[in-house]
Amino acid sequence: MRTTILVTGGAGFLGSHLCDRLLSEGNEVICTDNLFTGSKDNIRHLLNNELFEFIRHDVTFPLYLEVDQIYNLACPASPVHYQYDPVQTTKTSVHGAINMLGLVKRTGARIFQASTSEVYGDPEVHPQPESYWGRVNPIGIRSCYDEGKRCAETLFFDYHRQHEIEIKVARIFNTYGPRMNPEDGRVVSNFIVQALKNEPITIYGDGSQTRSFCYVDDLIEGFVRLMNSDPEITGPVNLGNPGEFTMLELANLVIEITGSKSQITYMDLPQDDPRQRQPDISYAKSALGWEPSIQLKDGLTQTVEYFDNLLKEGV
Ligand SMILES: NC(=O)c1ccc[n+]([C@@H]2O[C@H](COP(=O)([O-])OP(=O)(O)OC[C@H]3O[C@@H](n4cnc5c(N)ncnc54)[C@H](O)[C@@H]3O)[C@@H](O)[C@H]2O)c1
Repeated sequence: MRTTILVTGGAGFLGSHLCDRLLSEGNEVICTDNLFTGSKDNIRHLLNNELFEFIRHDVTFPLYLEVDQIYNLACPASPVHYQYDPVQTTKTSVHGAINMLGLVKRTGARIFQASTSEVYGDPEVHPQPESYWGRVNPIGIRSCYDEGKRCAETLFFDYHRQHEIEIKVARIFNTYGPRMNPEDGRVVSNFIVQALKNEPITIYGDGSQTRSFCYVDDLIEGFVRLMNSDPEITGPVNLGNPGEFTMLELANLVIEITGSKSQITYMDLPQDDPRQRQPDISYAKSALGWEPSIQLKDGLTQTVEYFDNLLKEGV
């Protein structure tokens, strides 16, 4: 018997890589997406695969399917997109979680939630372990995403306690790689596109704020390990790369890899932008035997190649 796996948000950046991985292991994959930030281009190579099925569906509406596992990824992930319609963003996290958890209650499937490091807000603890409860502004312009994801976590744990369903909650830290949306304003794609076009590279603030960057293949390995871990491992589990880089270091690395003539320019920091973000992945290491192995320079080189092709195709 094949395992049938639902991936919500499967036409997005992470979702499409996850679909690739699950299909490569012989699973049947149902990908649902409302194509808000995702694209059929990300899954076009899968459309003729008989083990793959795409359904255009908004996760805020119920869905009735028979599945063994669900990866719930549907949610715009970048500030430009999640702030475009903040009410819909909260609905996507909260109603989406309720709908998928309801499906699990009926089918007995196991469910994975793509939560986020944003649940830690602008943290006073560094690096962030899972036991840290976070420092989140509930009424700011990022709150639709941060609080939506926090509420989704609450729902996952309440369904788990109340209905004894099997949950797997991953807190994902900044991830990058091919198929990121070039328009989404995230720092890696921004810098790469600006560098490839020889346009000024814009750093918000003085460039000393740090981020950690995980390459997509490392992250997807973490997803699959968590999903297939023992039932008592519910998470939350931090998944990300603890290697910490300042924005200035990232910009210089991108300039080096692309051989760009871009100059660096500085702009004001956006509201609620966290100064530092770095995962403590001790728990992922001990519970899943997982840690990232792809160096930033190698991952960036792959990503630059993808964006270079995209720009050459005129996308
Ligand atoms: N990439 C990261 O660094 C990162 C970090 C933390 C958390 N995450 C989480 O991982 C998940 C995937 O992120 P991504 O980077 O692939 O972003 P993405 O925007 O590429 O993918 C999200 C997908 O969800 C779809 N979607 C949005 N709203 C929907 C709705 N109401 N119904 C159905 N589909 C909907 C989009 O069309 C898109 O295909 C998200 O839940 C995000 O919050 C990502």
